[in-house]
Amino acid sequence: MGDKKKRNIVLTGFMASGKSAVGKELAKRLKMDFVDTDNLIEEREGMEISRIFREKGESYFRDVETKIVKEVAEYKNSVIATGGGVVLKEENMRALRKNGTIICLSTNPATILKRTSRNQLRPLLEGEREKKIKDLLAFRAPYYQKADFTVDTSDLTVEQTVEKIIKFLNEKNGNCES
Ligand code: S3P
Repeated sequence: MGDKKKRNIVLTGFMASGKSAVGKELAKRLKMDFVDTDNLIEEREGMEISRIFREKGESYFRDVETKIVKEVAEYKNSVIATGGGVVLKEENMRALRKNGTIICLSTNPATILKRTSRNQLRPLLEGEREKKIKDLLAFRAPYYQKADFTVDTSDLTVEQTVEKIIKFLNEKNGNCES
């Protein structure tokens, strides 16, 4: 394990659980770098994720995702927001855990439905959205549960979520500002 102070904070969780918004704020508060695996995938591939799914398929997307995850897992002092499916591959999580503390943002299905209702950019939720959310959440629950700490963001603001994470990290490591 590397220098405790330079460890990454990895945010996992379902789509629309707030990983990017919380991650940016957390990085600002803790003076860490912020990186988002979905953004890196889009940059690397030169197209939006919905288009990658459509034109190249999910398994192609997952391969690119794993490459990017392994790269960012080597970063230091970074808040890493991951795509909702990153937890599904043990090799992704093994890499991220080496130098990172895993924080899962959980959210109830009704809130996910509300937060995703206005945007069409989530290929895995196309069609019968409510059922897809429930089924995917049920399937993924055991994977998300492996995190070091979980915050339910359903009724929390970004700032409140960040506070909870910082409190946890302070108690656990004593390596963050308050
Ligand atoms: C996915 C979540 C998305 C994106 C892709 C697949 C998933 O990221 O990586 O659409 O499998 O849950 P967000 O969780 O940031 O929406």
